[in-house]
Amino acid sequence: MSEQWLDAGPVDDVGEEYPSSVVVAGKELALYRVGEEIYATDNLCTHGNARLCDGYLEGYEIECPLHQGRFDIRDGRALCAPLTTDVRTYPVKLVDGRISIGID
Ligand code: FES
Repeated sequence: MSEQWLDAGPVDDVGEEYPSSVVVAGKELALYRVGEEIYATDNLCTHGNARLCDGYLEGYEIECPLHQGRFDIRDGRALCAPLTTDVRTYPVKLVDGRISIGID
């Protein structure tokens, strides 16, 4: 299936300190802001039943609120135990102050 770009709301809805969550095409995603850039990952942690939007963002690392595993939001890499599986990331485009997410 080919990728399609779907609207995920205004850029200004995503604060720098706290990630937010959004549902796009039936998938719950976490959105993160670092400076003028927005990053998107699956919201569910790959280790357990925790939402990354409730985690702590420091630089490009999101720390899961449940067991403090950390992912790099740029490529989804699992950076430390107890994580063993990367989280999926999604391409983001910013167009006229709105976020577009590439989903296939
Ligand atoms: Fe996220 Fe365990 S549920 S690190």
